[in-house]
Amino acid sequence: MPENFQIFTARVLPADLQYDVEGDLTLLEAAEMSRIELPSSCRNGTCRTCLCMLISGEVTYTTEWPGLSAEEKADGYVLPCVARPLSNVVLDQPMAKAV
Ligand code: FES
Repeated sequence: MPENFQIFTARVLPADLQYDVEGDLTLLEAAEMSRIELPSSCRNGTCRTCLCMLISGEVTYTTEWPGLSAEEKADGYVLPCVARPLSNVVLDQPMAKAV
């Protein structure tokens, strides 16, 4: 296991689903590996289908400019398909479900 390998926990409200995000997986990829379905389409940060609110925690993006305005970022919106956690995170995504 590489030295910088990290595992963070993602919790999704209001359904209160929880999953681990390992290594450099995005929040969307890790959810799918844990059989948790989050809305998605393009998976590259442009369509905004996956847009949801980050209630707590920090993320970084795999793309230079994900399809979010600076204002939306400041308001706490994230795009899970291109977001990697930098801490444990809590998301608000009412359409999330275990599959
Ligand atoms: S799935 Fe398209 S922006 Fe995330």
